[in-house]
Amino acid sequence: MGKELRFDDKVVVITGAGGGLGKAYALFFGARGASVVVNDLGGSLKGETDGDATGKRVADGVVDEIIKLGGKAVANYDSVEFGDKIVETAIKAFGTVHIVINNAGILRDVSFKNMKDQDFKLVQLVHVYGSYKVAKAAWPHMRKQKFGRIINTASAAGLYGNFGQTNYSAAKLALVGFTETLAKEGAKYNITANAIVPIAASRMTETILPPDVLDKLKPEYVVPVVGYLVHENTKDTWGIYEVGAGAVTKLRWQRAKGALFKGDDSFTPSAVLKKWDEINDFSAGSEFPNGSKDLLAIAESSPKLPPNAQGEPVEFKDKVVI
Ligand code: NAI
Repeated sequence: MGKELRFDDKVVVITGAGGGLGKAYALFFGARGASVVVNDLGGSLKGETDGDATGKRVADGVVDEIIKLGGKAVANYDSVEFGDKIVETAIKAFGTVHIVINNAGILRDVSFKNMKDQDFKLVQLVHVYGSYKVAKAAWPHMRKQKFGRIINTASAAGLYGNFGQTNYSAAKLALVGFTETLAKEGAKYNITANAIVPIAASRMTETILPPDVLDKLKPEYVVPVVGYLVHENTKDTWGIYEVGAGAVTKLRWQRAKGALFKGDDSFTPSAVLKKWDEINDFSAGSEFPNGSKDLLAIAESSPKLPPNAQGEPVEFKDKVVI
């Protein structure tokens, strides 16, 4: 057997670590030498808390398990909205923070027609603002020690959409953008940021997936990828990884072949329509590493816009357009 990947001198903050994926991460890092902050405010899947201490027991239970196995862990019960307090717990107990796993999450699924402002706002608050607050509080420590590893938790609903989850989809894709920019700003300080798109059996999925599928989706199947990504020897950053049931795959943006409109005065909607197939043609697509900077590089010259949309007429859904 080879040597196991260890985290002996590392302080790991895991949000929402009282159950599901977060708990699996916490037990893994606890068993591999890390000092773990187990954050969880308890509460329902929809983000409701009963205002007493019952919710806290979930974090305490995970801390007890880690300690029983000879590990180091402390509990924190704050909502991720108060991410600074979570990081404060890490500083007080262990002196710093090296690794942040933004994992806490809630669902308030409802069709867009019936969605209330509160459903939308609360989901953004926990996923987006919460991840921001924890990362923001950890950032100065990571910069100072020139080491940091951040994992943000996105979702397939964010990348592809899912019925009844406009609030959650918006929040989860926001976390991809958040990750990509953190990766760029952190590079100079040996801070990496990656997003994972997990699928796992938890209270989030237990009512929507059949038992035989849930059996194949143990949270433990997501853990090794997170463990690998946050290790000090791993330099990979700016990545998006789909993970679940033993399948692991990287995702990337891709640009289609596209069309160029040159410097004449024919850049009209009908000109766009004529080249629509090229614009949508992924058979000769390319990776999308630098976003719109690439677009500037491939556009040879700016097209002139027609003074009053004069152009060659084209048929468009039974109508002639220019
Ligand atoms: P889970 O519901 O078992 O775990 C989430 C934990 O976050 C809970 O223990 C909850 O008490 C805690 N939490 C909620 N709001 C909090 C707050 N404001 N502050 C602190 N803790 C809070 O769900 P699961 O499946 O383990 O989800 C973990 C993450 O993975 C979530 O971000 C979820 O959106 C994401 N995810 C999960 C998928 C799955 O298939 N299970 C699929 C895609 C994404």
